[in-house]
Amino acid sequence: MKTYATYNIKGGVGKTTAAVNLAYLSAADGCRTLLWDLDPQGAASFLFRVKPRVKGGGKALIRGTKALDDAIKGTDFENLDLLPADFTYRNMDLLLADSRPARKLAQLLRPLAAEYDNVFLDCPPSISLVSENVMHAADVLLVPLIPTTLSVRTLDQLTEFVAGFHGRRPEVRAFFSMVDRRKRLHQDITQKLLVERSGVTATAIPALSLIERMSVERAPVTAFAPRSQAARAFRSLWTEITSPAKSPPELAPADAS
Ligand SMILES: Nc1ncnc2c1ncn2[C@@H]1O[C@H](COP(=O)(O)OP(=O)(O)OP(=O)(O)O)[C@@H](O)[C@H]1O
Ligand SMILES: [Mg+2]
Repeated sequence: MKTYATYNIKGGVGKTTAAVNLAYLSAADGCRTLLWDLDPQGAASFLFRVKPRVKGGGKALIRGTKALDDAIKGTDFENLDLLPADFTYRNMDLLLADSRPARKLAQLLRPLAAEYDNVFLDCPPSISLVSENVMHAADVLLVPLIPTTLSVRTLDQLTEFVAGFHGRRPEVRAFFSMVDRRKRLHQDITQKLLVERSGVTATAIPALSLIERMSVERAPVTAFAPRSQAARAFRSLWTEITSPAKSPPELAPADAS
């Protein structure tokens, strides 16, 4: 079982959009896939037409009185299940604080290894005990970045934070999201980061109104418009993410003279 988490401290950068489309593509590839909507706002649950409710709430899941298995719902798509959001997830930090706080989610997910090939965690925008748990549970952190100078700082801070982990560290794969090719700044930043940082994908997700339509169609764009530019971009991203990361090209040494 491989665990992918879409994460960024910032809100509205494309975490849910990526989680929903990549989970769909994973399932379409024939992999048994689970998406856990960890955001109390329940956007991923909404997009998959699943009621954002877990009986007993987050408390029952974290305390183990309800097995994750019993809360999992099917979606309209083959091989794709959803663990819905619940409004009580807003208190998840308090619930996690009880015992082995940073590794609770990883522990809860472990029994699912026999049932799923790929698990996606869609995180709320924050840096909290929930996000720390997600980082410990994930094999790969997928970080959507809107091309601004600040987003580069966000990526560096996250990479540094993860590097400080003892034991297993997730691989950090960043990708540009909502890119407007007509904007010079977007072009400059995407090119610069691709060269200077490792783990940045060559695929960028363009800003497209068809992607916004997902909330009207209530389905992944990769499902309702599979031949669109948007779907092609997510497919290319998925292909890249499932291939090994390339190191950045060696930078020329500074002139010593
Ligand atoms: N590539 C894109 N082009 C155009 N619109 C996009 C794109 N990606 C996401 N959006 C739109 O931007 C909004 C925010 O996207 P999304 O919900 O995926 O972000 P998020 O990071 O999960 O937000 P939150 O932090 O609130 O969970 C949504 O309305 C979505 O439809
Ligand atoms: Mg979201």
